[in-house]
Amino acid sequence: RKHLRGLQETTLAMIKPDAFQHTGQILECITANGLLIKNLRMCQLSVPQAEEFYKCHRGKPFFPCLTQLIASGPVVAMELVGENALCRWRMLLGPTSAEVARIKAPSSIRAQFGTDCTRNACHGSDSHESARLETCFFFIDRKLGMCARFRNCSVA
Ligand code: PPS
Repeated sequence: RKHLRGLQETTLAMIKPDAFQHTGQILECITANGLLIKNLRMCQLSVPQAEEFYKCHRGKPFFPCLTQLIASGPVVAMELVGENALCRWRMLLGPTSAEVARIKAPSSIRAQFGTDCTRNACHGSDSHESARLETCFFFIDRKLGMCARFRNCSVA
């Protein structure tokens, strides 16, 4: 039976401060869809830590707005595991903009719990490489022996 299962993938999911109050329903949605929560951490990021997490977007017009939102309250970071976990979590999220999501994917997480393009409830890694880096950011990296979030930027 084991060899019939597809490749298990890992991805990073993050409930943003604007949807923190809906954490229970979002966790329910994750597990109901067959994704396993291997690791979970609730924390509040400083602005420098949020800038480090989203460094691939540095220089884009929305960067200050995005990093300030992320640092404005608690986030729930999760390492999700499952077959095609990266793609499946992004499907559950729906389009980046919650307004678009309400039209195109009304049962998606962003449609239900997001507000607009800035406050869009949750984040999901967009590639396997970002999944690896983002997982190391929040959770202990075996090689590093610590979370990357404590490197390169001051701790809140
Ligand atoms: S891009 O440029 O195509 O890579 O951007 P996109 O994939 O659409 O979005 C990347 C993340 O930036 C956030 N975003 C914004 N935040 C604040 N304000 C505005 N206007 C805005 N536009 C995009 C978006 O929510 C994405 O965050 P994550 O956490 O990755 O979903």
